[in-house]
Amino acid sequence: MSIKQNAGNPLKIQDNTFRDGHQSIYATRMTTEDMIPIAEAMDEVGFWAMEVWGGATFDAMHRFLGEDPWERPRILKRHIKKTPFSMLLRGQNLVGYRHYADDVVRAFVDRACAIGIDIFRVFDALNDLRNIETCAACIKANGKHFEGAVVYSLTERHLGGEVFNLSYYVSKAKSLEEMGADSICIKDMAGIMAPYDAYELFTELKKAVKVPLHLHTHYTSGMGSMTCLKAVEAGVDIVDTCVAPYAMRTSMPPVEPLLLTLEGTERDPGMQMSRLLEIGKYLESIAPRYQKHLAANTLSLIDENVIAHQIPGGMVSNLVSQLKEMNALDRLPEVQQEIQVVRKEAGMPPLVTPTSQIIGSQAVMNVLAGRYRTVSNQFRDLLFGLYGKTPAGIDPQVREMALRGSGQGIWITDRPANHLKPEMEAARRKLGDLARTEEDLLTYVLYQTSGEQFLKWKYGAEPMPEGVRPGDAR
Ligand code: CO
Repeated sequence: MSIKQNAGNPLKIQDNTFRDGHQSIYATRMTTEDMIPIAEAMDEVGFWAMEVWGGATFDAMHRFLGEDPWERPRILKRHIKKTPFSMLLRGQNLVGYRHYADDVVRAFVDRACAIGIDIFRVFDALNDLRNIETCAACIKANGKHFEGAVVYSLTERHLGGEVFNLSYYVSKAKSLEEMGADSICIKDMAGIMAPYDAYELFTELKKAVKVPLHLHTHYTSGMGSMTCLKAVEAGVDIVDTCVAPYAMRTSMPPVEPLLLTLEGTERDPGMQMSRLLEIGKYLESIAPRYQKHLAANTLSLIDENVIAHQIPGGMVSNLVSQLKEMNALDRLPEVQQEIQVVRKEAGMPPLVTPTSQIIGSQAVMNVLAGRYRTVSNQFRDLLFGLYGKTPAGIDPQVREMALRGSGQGIWITDRPANHLKPEMEAARRKLGDLARTEEDLLTYVLYQTSGEQFLKWKYGAEPMPEGVRPGDAR
């Protein structure tokens, strides 16, 4: 039976096994070498796209795997010729953790296009779309697919309330369409989107915008597969999944049950299930190499913290290690309470990199040292507007208290990158011969310390230590 014949409006699926899958559960350690044996089979499955780059991969590759991050898409492209490649780009933060100047953003996007990235999913932690303007313009100028993403955040258990309600997401989607987005993604990085909220949200988004809609959700709370299904019923065009051994837990819903569920329906993606079973078998055979990175502190595959506090898993483990160091692990419940308060006072930023760390550390300091007795520089920057405009207003009393005595200037209300000087030329002069290509230079600008170290390994100026090389995961 040809499944395709039944398909009226087939769902499209983006595979995330080579990016978010191992980033979410295996600490981003999957090597390019381990991807190659299934690359051709993956190309035959019929995915709409495969996400292979961006997010934390750039960081992990040059720092822990001794791999030149720029090479991975080029190598994979030799084996995957039909399926487009996508990447996750953190707007003005690119694949790093701070805002880079516009000249860096343009150079990065140009090089990413040149090495074979076809689809760019671009988001900003605060959903401040001014922080993705430069990326978007450059992606469009290269004739590539610009997928605008809205970070999904909540203040209560369900969609609604004062800030993150239906009209918030609809208006962000409309703005992205006006910016020229070729598709729009709702990015639920913490896995907190409930199935019926997804149904309501995608039903309304379908009415509001014309471009295809894409759902990225995580399995973290245990709702992921149900959420995908309800989004499919509401007409979502594309969803993200992983192949089973790289799915569930804090990763994405698995692709196989979704295909079985939709088989013979009008949303049947019509994909090659037999190929997926082969691929799954291979991934099972290599997964033990990465297993040491798997969180093994609970038997439960779901994270109760996300259900109770909407604090993403990664953020909880950061807090736990921070508190352990200070010998104050018993204060964790207080810190979890304080996070909600600090987040509100700081204008309700979504809890995603880097805002999750900023809010989390400030909450720890508030609990241990007294409220805003010590203020981190990053928290100060957030209040100064240097990360962009927060979704809600910042508490004026807290702003004054936190900024008192900082000696810094005034807060800004325009696009943060307007205040950044070009970086590329200065880096070129500083690095001299160590950067032989534009890609080398970008590696250094993005990650000054570890990037420079990587270039020394790459060109043999220093030997690569044991344990930092593609064999590390073994
Ligand atoms: Co994700």
